[in-house]
Amino acid sequence: MADFDLIVIGAGPGGYVCAIRAAQLGLKVACVEGRETLGGTCLNVGCIPSKALLHATHSLHEAEHNFEKMGLKVARPKVDWTQMQAYKDDVVGTNTKGIEFLFKKNKVTWIKGWASIPKAGQVQVGDETHTARNIVIASGSEPSPLNGVEMDEDVIVSSTGALTLAKPPKSMVVIGAGVIGLEMGSVYARLGTDVTVIEYLDEITPGMDAEVAKTFKRILGKQGLKFVMGAAVSKAERKGKAAEVSYTLRKDDSAHQIKADIVLVATGRRPFTDGLGLDALGVEKEPRGQIRINGQFATNIPGVYAIGDAVVGPMLAHKAEDEGMAVAEVIAGKHGHVNYDVIPGVIYTAPEVATVGKTEQQLKDEGRAYKVGKFSFMGNARAKAVFQAEGFVKLLTDKDTDRILGCHIIGPAAGDLIHEICVAMEFGASAQDVALTCHAHPTYSEAVREAALACGDGPIHM
Ligand code: NAI
Repeated sequence: MADFDLIVIGAGPGGYVCAIRAAQLGLKVACVEGRETLGGTCLNVGCIPSKALLHATHSLHEAEHNFEKMGLKVARPKVDWTQMQAYKDDVVGTNTKGIEFLFKKNKVTWIKGWASIPKAGQVQVGDETHTARNIVIASGSEPSPLNGVEMDEDVIVSSTGALTLAKPPKSMVVIGAGVIGLEMGSVYARLGTDVTVIEYLDEITPGMDAEVAKTFKRILGKQGLKFVMGAAVSKAERKGKAAEVSYTLRKDDSAHQIKADIVLVATGRRPFTDGLGLDALGVEKEPRGQIRINGQFATNIPGVYAIGDAVVGPMLAHKAEDEGMAVAEVIAGKHGHVNYDVIPGVIYTAPEVATVGKTEQQLKDEGRAYKVGKFSFMGNARAKAVFQAEGFVKLLTDKDTDRILGCHIIGPAAGDLIHEICVAMEFGASAQDVALTCHAHPTYSEAVREAALACGDGPIHM
């Protein structure tokens, strides 16, 4: 008899959620984690610590720019970087301990160490071999290296190093205008750092609705971020205590250099499967290195499954969580399912950016007849009251049926507002369904309803 019904490898959002759900469904479960604490990249060096720094520096921005307008006279807040780091670490610590508590509560065994799979049904951790009827690989991802750039996590850093800089630098070059680059770039810009973002493409946040991306770039520019667009970075070298970045402008092939105290490399992530022994085991992979799975999260090796950043799809904690729950259900003999058409994406800058479903470009490419309902936060009383009226809600619906196909929001609390549309999409709702739903006044969510009204007879407050 096997030691466990299921061993999950990795305790990030995919792995720990999978372990807890499987235990709740009556399975005997262990989860192997090599880090000192549970929670994976997201909790330890990703989503959670970055949100703490975003919150702290947004508060600074509010104090510096908006307090006086509201009749609050305070001296300009001084930044105590050591305390800000301690606050961030405390937030991380509370959350990682929370998962430890949940493991105990659900009787999930935490096996400490790095796992490999010598053969199907076996997981090796250090000198010990554990047996399991099922294995789920939830080993996550790591920053992609960039040719010509060596990250020393001191002057040339990945997102991990960017969270623990010795002090806010005078200048920073961010390579890549994706989610990480813009979130961390915002943090340091608010702290007074001169931030230059260098991006290969002509627009920031590739894949995002073009109108949102354009507005987003304009707002970030007003916040002090500088952008060099259409520029391919070929080299970043440490020069003493600073670094020099070389890039070529794609439009004319001209070569340029820029110096900065810190360089943040944010050009994407790749699956992390080192040391698992997958090649020896014969696990099939996709051309870009992800573990190949079928619709039930199963690899080609019987009893071995994979989820999260290690497989194809958006590298998002909540996508991994959903897959974690679904694979636990599959293993327990139920019908786990993930609706990949309704996975929201959020960028936690100020304003926030949130998106779900199709972009206008995708609908055009598909040759689909669609309607656009747009509403600006300028027409939203609550947003105006808190100086956050820049941005808009854009709803895309099927021209004939009015069914919601996508939603793109840039504005206050966009990351929360988007979920009304996620639920609507799960129910196959039309814009009219949202428009006919009473929304409390005064809330930001009225802007979502107005965008829905804009798909029909028109909004009221525009
Ligand atoms: P990304 O894929 O979002 O953006 C990378 C950017 O770098 C792209 O715009 C790309 O064109 C550019 N780039 C690549 N090579 C370049 C070069 N040589 N020169 C100039 N520009 C170059 O990657 P990012 O921001 O590193 O994030 C990695 C993953 O983590 C993403 O999948 C993201 O979704 C996820 N993530 C999600 C967060 C959230 O949901 N809020 C927060 C942080 C990360």
